[in-house]
Amino acid sequence: MKYTYYGQSCFLLEADGKKFLFDPFITHNPLAKEIDISKIEADYILVSHGHQDHIADLVTIANNTGAQVIAMVEVASWISKQGVKNITDINFGKSVFDFGTLRTVWAVHSSSNPDESYGGNPAGFVLQLEEKTIYFAGDTALTLEMKLLAELYQLDYAILPIGGHYTMDVADAVVASKFIACDKIIGVHYDTFPPIKIDTEEAKQAFEKENKTLLLPAIGETIDL
Ligand code: NI
Ligand code: MN
Repeated sequence: MKYTYYGQSCFLLEADGKKFLFDPFITHNPLAKEIDISKIEADYILVSHGHQDHIADLVTIANNTGAQVIAMVEVASWISKQGVKNITDINFGKSVFDFGTLRTVWAVHSSSNPDESYGGNPAGFVLQLEEKTIYFAGDTALTLEMKLLAELYQLDYAILPIGGHYTMDVADAVVASKFIACDKIIGVHYDTFPPIKIDTEEAKQAFEKENKTLLLPAIGETIDL
């Protein structure tokens, strides 16, 4: 499986011959100015919630690729009003797709659509691809809900926000990694805006202290999972 980082909480997973794009926010991110969104291919686009820093390029990329867009009911409704046709709305729990079962989980955050209409609840996702189990937390604070994932899965990788201010910071993400019993963490949602700038070396050390690994690929970099 391959993971490509596009900045903020946007990344692409390539697995089982399919491309899964998450939370497209690229053209408004100065740190991601080298990324050409017209070259991004996707079979599925998963959206954690309706905030601009997760959805700003969604309509463009959905139209470019024809990807199946997967979002919470209220965000899906906004997306459909933008003229996107290939949308599947979901809610918390399990939803069956041709790539397997997607579990949509609680995220402690808020959600509204770009036009300020009601965005329902924000979400995180668990996917099982190529016999690996991956958790993307979306935007969330630390929550005991995460312990449920350790009951249900043996997570191989967790993609967690680490920038603080709007979401978990590094210290809370370390606690989260214990709650979910996962040793390989990929950090997202940091450095994009002044309030979420972090010291990445300190962040890696904080996870190392707990015998866990924090992966922070550069924007545009692809790593093997
Ligand atoms: Ni948000
Ligand atoms: Mn956000």
